[in-house]
Amino acid sequence: MTNDSWWSDAVVYQVYLRSFADGDGDGVGDLAGLRTRLGHLVDLGVDALWLNPCYVSPQRDHGYDIADYFAIDPTYGTTDDLVDLVAEAHRRGLRVLLDLVPNHCSTEHPWFREALGAPVGSQQRERFVLRDGRGPGGALPPNNWQSVFGGPAWTRLADGQWYLHSFDASQPDFNWRDASVRAYFEDVLRFWFGLGVDGFRIDVAHGLVVAEHLPDLPADGAVDRHPMWDQPEVHEIYRTWRRIAQEYRPDPKYFIGELWVDGTERLRPYLAPDELHQAFCFDLLVQPWDADRLAGAVRSGLATADELGAPAAWTLNNHDVHRVVSRYGQVQDLSAPDPQDLLAAARRTGPVDLAVGAARARAAVMLLLALPGSVYLYQGEELGLPEVLDLPDDVRQDPIWVRSGGRELGRDGCRVPLPWRADAPRLGFSDPTGAAPWLPAPDWFAGYAVDRQARDDGSFLALYRRLVRGRREVFAPGAPLRWVDHPDPAVLAFTRGAGLCLVNVGGDDLPLAPELEQAVVARSGTAGGLVRDSAVWIDTARVPGGLRSVAWDVPSGAGAPARA
Ligand code: BGC
Repeated sequence: MTNDSWWSDAVVYQVYLRSFADGDGDGVGDLAGLRTRLGHLVDLGVDALWLNPCYVSPQRDHGYDIADYFAIDPTYGTTDDLVDLVAEAHRRGLRVLLDLVPNHCSTEHPWFREALGAPVGSQQRERFVLRDGRGPGGALPPNNWQSVFGGPAWTRLADGQWYLHSFDASQPDFNWRDASVRAYFEDVLRFWFGLGVDGFRIDVAHGLVVAEHLPDLPADGAVDRHPMWDQPEVHEIYRTWRRIAQEYRPDPKYFIGELWVDGTERLRPYLAPDELHQAFCFDLLVQPWDADRLAGAVRSGLATADELGAPAAWTLNNHDVHRVVSRYGQVQDLSAPDPQDLLAAARRTGPVDLAVGAARARAAVMLLLALPGSVYLYQGEELGLPEVLDLPDDVRQDPIWVRSGGRELGRDGCRVPLPWRADAPRLGFSDPTGAAPWLPAPDWFAGYAVDRQARDDGSFLALYRRLVRGRREVFAPGAPLRWVDHPDPAVLAFTRGAGLCLVNVGGDDLPLAPELEQAVVARSGTAGGLVRDSAVWIDTARVPGGLRSVAWDVPSGAGAPARA
């Protein structure tokens, strides 16, 4: 399994472990459950899996609050289980990525506890961003920074100092200007790499370092560089990490960053050849279902990839946003330019037309898997799972829900345990004699169960399997994307190598010329032609006379869509 750029056109499957499969019956997914279900990933045809954080954690932010970076949380298994999982995954041809959370730890991390007991000015306190407050008695936070999860980014300690947390109060930020923090994370990398892990997804990779002297954010928020994010000093950290990754020969380790920075120029240094390999391209994920907006996102993602020499890593879903079936089933908001708070916009509420959302999501994944670069899928999207928007308030756990006082639903609805077997108790997620799953799955999840979909050729799962397994045969890896002029502005049309991808984004039902129709190798729906909200893949080598001979404006009647 050696190939130092395996990631450049890989399909990676994101495993939100606590909701994937429960092997020990405690109601929470774990490594044992994942191991028994690895076949699901193999059947899907993916190249790698990315595991959300599964280190020791009090789980206030479900693992993004780490108390021990060198051990697996007992809820999920043991470090030996992880080693076994990696070995088994490798045997089955799958790479394994872990999630690294360097911006912050948990208030239960021993360092934070030591810091609390240590005097002001001590080395133990230097590892975090601890400051005196402002105003009489230091009763006001050191500055006006706000936490991503809502409310001030500062919490006061019993001794009067304040600590910075860019996210929840249970997640104190590390002080990356302190050498011991840097050395610690180098050890973390080496530890997991030494156990066979192939790489890391880096959480909030534009975080880590904050502006020196912690300046206030101007009231209008207008700054060239936000003082909490994207500070130039972060780059020397990644250069060191890349050197560590390169030590592993002949199969160097890999990094992908979750990076929210403004524009290509800000991204450039992160993707320099001596820093991270890839950054998630969220451009598509945050767009409404609209041909111009989607085409614009593809163009900008590709331009960035070309300019920076790093293949795009496309995605439509993850554990932080509402599932795509539901997003596309809502009224599409085209009025706003690209939303300011992109993630919050991808968690909009409102009525959902599931049939529309499902058709669009099926077409969208055909677009995604036809693009050059790699693709990150989020567990459950291969089942077409919608967001569970009506979880009872008392089962919700996301700190976003808690910190917003319930004004924002947060992310629990995309984290509901997967349905494996429609007729089994607890849908086959966990042992019926054990504890109830940590989040309840609604009854209607049975209709989305893996076993049911595996028997249905028209299911989401069957489509995903065909697409993931077939994409490299239709669209030659490395082949560049070339746009094809299509007369209908609602149609995205492009080729890569011999493959042609056509996506009808909300337009009228369209016929396909007969010479194209007979060369269709995959389609998102059951109707012929190119109906509204559908996509097709076509093998142009099978089009007599090639694409040039194709009449795009097919007279009505000829090759008209036939509903199956
Ligand atoms: C992760 C979130 C997490 C946050 C804080 C993010 O970007 O994807 O799930 O809550 O970082 O670690």
